[in-house]
This record gives sequence, C-alpha cells and structure tokens, in this order.
Amino acid sequence: MAVARSTWSPSSWREHDAAQQPDWPSGERVEAVRAQLAAMPPLVFAGEARGLRDALATVAEGRALLLQAGDCVESFHEFSAITIREKLKIMLQMAAVLTYGATLPVVKVGRIAGQFVKPRSSATERVADEELPSFRGHMVNGEAPTLDARRPDPERMLQGYHQSAATLNLVRAFTKGGFADLNQVHMWNQEFVASSTQGRRYEQLASEIERALRFMAAIGVDLRDEPHLNQVDYWTSHEGLLLEYEEALTRRDSLTGDWYDCSAHMLWIGERTRQPHGAHVQFFAGVNNPIGVKLGPTATPEEVLELCEVLDPGRVPGRLTLITRMGAERVFELLPPLLRAVRDAGHPVVWACDPMHANVFATSSGRKTRHFDAVLGEIEGFFAAHMQVGTWPGGVHLEFTGDDVTECLGGSEDVQEAELDARYMSLCDPRLNARQSLDLAFRVAELMRSA
Ligand code: PEP
Ligand code: CO
Repeated sequence: MAVARSTWSPSSWREHDAAQQPDWPSGERVEAVRAQLAAMPPLVFAGEARGLRDALATVAEGRALLLQAGDCVESFHEFSAITIREKLKIMLQMAAVLTYGATLPVVKVGRIAGQFVKPRSSATERVADEELPSFRGHMVNGEAPTLDARRPDPERMLQGYHQSAATLNLVRAFTKGGFADLNQVHMWNQEFVASSTQGRRYEQLASEIERALRFMAAIGVDLRDEPHLNQVDYWTSHEGLLLEYEEALTRRDSLTGDWYDCSAHMLWIGERTRQPHGAHVQFFAGVNNPIGVKLGPTATPEEVLELCEVLDPGRVPGRLTLITRMGAERVFELLPPLLRAVRDAGHPVVWACDPMHANVFATSSGRKTRHFDAVLGEIEGFFAAHMQVGTWPGGVHLEFTGDDVTECLGGSEDVQEAELDARYMSLCDPRLNARQSLDLAFRVAELMRSA
C-alpha cells in the first residue's frame, strides 16, 4: 500500500495512529508552537537532502560506507562549542580510520542538531511511590524525577529548534572552514585519547596519511585548493518521532515542487514507530529526504517488504536505509532472510548495522550498559550475514560521545562494571567513549578489508 501522493500533506499523518507521542497538556499551545515553527527558516535545504541521497546511493551500490553516529539524545544542558567540536573530532577520526583502512569513501551522518526526542518502553515510570511520566527527551520534558519537570511542555520544541540551528551553524563552520582539512588529521586526536593504545595507533595512521599528502605535493599535485581535502560533508540526522515538530519544518522545494522535511538531512523511523499504517511511516512516505528505518528482532520479511513498498515505491537508490539492530546473539540467524527478501524484490537499500540498541542490559546496581564485545560481535555477525547472502554491508549506526565517559563496558581500556559510576553522564542510553569508538573503527576497517 503506497501513500497517495496527491492527497498527502504534512498534516495528513493526523489521520493515522501515532505511537510514542507526548501527552501534551494543551492542544492549543502545541498548535501555537507548530505555527511559530512553521514560520521559521528551514534548517537544511532540499538540495542538500538530495546531495545526501546521492551519497547514500553510492553506499547502496557497494562503493562507499555509511558512518552514522552521535548521541543517544542531545541535551539542552550540555550545549557548547567544545562538546560539538569533540563529537566532530571523533567522527572525523573514525572516518579517517575507515577511509584509510577500507580504502572506501565514508558518508558521515551525525545523530546531531535535532536528536532531542526518545521513544520509551513505558509511558510512565515509578519513582519512590510516585507514578511519573517518562522522560522523553529535552524537546518534550525534563529528566528530573518530579511531576513538574516531567510535564510535557510544547515550548521546548522552540528551544530544540534554536539549539539545532546553532549546532548546525557551528558544524558547518567546522566542516567547511578548515578544521576538517585532512592536513589537520593529527589535531583531531584528543589529549586523553592520544596516550591510549588506540590513540597511538591513530597517530601512526595519521602520519601515514600525512606522508601520502606530502608525496602528492612533492610530485606536483597542488592540494591547497582541493575541496576533498579541505572540507567534509557532514550530514545531520535524528529520529523523526515528534510529528508536530517534523510537520512544522516540512516545506515544499521551490525547485522541484516536492516536500522535504527541512529539520535534518536524513530522518529515521524508530523500532517502536515503524508500523506501515502508523502515522510515522505515513508521514515520511510523503517527504523526499533520505529515510532510515530501524529493524529489530521481530521484523519479518513481509513487514520489511511492505515498508520498502510504502517508503520507496520508486526504488530510488539512497532513499531508504534499513538499520538492523538484532542483538549480537541472533543477528546471524535473523538477518539473512531479510537481506534475501529485499534483494529479490529489487529494493536498492542501504543496509546499516546498529549494534547498540539490542545489546543493552542492566548491571546488578541497575546501570544500563552495553559491552564492547557485544557491540563488535553484532557488527561481525552483520558482516557474516551479508557475506553469506552476497549483499553489501553498507555501514554502522552508533551511539558515542567525544567525552571521556564510562558508560559501556570493555574495549581496549577494558572498562569494568565497578567503574561505570565514575563518569556515567548519558541522559538515556550508554554511549561508547572516544577510545572505544576509535577502537571500533579500527576493528570495522579490518572487517572491511577481509571482506
Ligand atoms: C535510538 O536509536 O536511540 C533508538 C531508540 O533506537 P531503536 O528505535 O532502534 O530502539
Ligand atoms: Co539510544
């Protein structure tokens, strides 16, 4: 069942069931905020979204890799030039490791500049003897365990918009203004990483890249004005969960007449909101951005094909990215039937592995964590499954931070359970720290090479 383009409008999702929406206290205030947002400038342009679609098409064709990564959820409190720069540094380092290690272009997509809303497994949570609305991300409510903080406040959507705009502005300056120049490849190594095994390994790789650049210069290639060296394309993405917000930022492209959700270059639909007839799928069927869909262990080949049909009836390479999150234990068993079904139906999708969301567990002290070995294990299973079916393991989707946190166990520094409390800062899911992220990039590059 494809969506009728002639009757689709940014508000037609309202005729469908929308899962995971906040219980807003006042419809009128939501509508006032939506109208205000609808009058604000777009955050990205339609032409840029098409640029990302073209880049993702090269991943779908097996000629590039996708690295999509960032925070589980962005925070209104942790918002500074430094946090944005540190996240970008990790992304650039990982991309350098993957590009050099796998000798393939890497399409870099941040979970950034709009990743402010979370789906929750339960609408409420019991704290002491009070039943509170669950924390749904700063664009909806506050994380403090009080009734007051947890009350959804539509005005937060405006703050989310402004923080996204400021974040995107700095990201554009960093990526186009010299910071991301490949000649700076050493500078992206943070101090606290540089002294670690992975940091030293990175230094070595950076020196090799530098030598290659010097070699090119020595034989007379003028690299000073080469945009591929001086600038990077770093695209934005977030889970398209809060439909009033996405509706408000959806605009008709003056060039093509098509609808684009101008809140980010790419939007993804979460595991809990991917019902083919639900409001989220119906909404994103009508916008022309590249769209991702998370697929968990219950996804059947029939469901996945229906999603492909609804979201990409025209089979446009780069339009649809299927992000699987099956768990390290089951990925090799669950993935091949999906890969075969989609391949046989001729859908030119990008396959990405989210090795984070199905590998969460709680420690005995109640901390939500993931083990580095399980994260790596799911990526290995993902590669093995693609190898078996003959499809392209397009990329990875990760939750990391540039900060020196202790949220995930293991990795080359072998973070232990007893250390988790030391620097556990996530508002939601546990993230890989900078060293673990770099470690993972080296491992993925090795997997790519052996593939
Ligand atoms: C997420 O990516 O943060 C998330 C909630 O993922 P999923 O929808 O796969 O559970
Ligand atoms: Co998460």
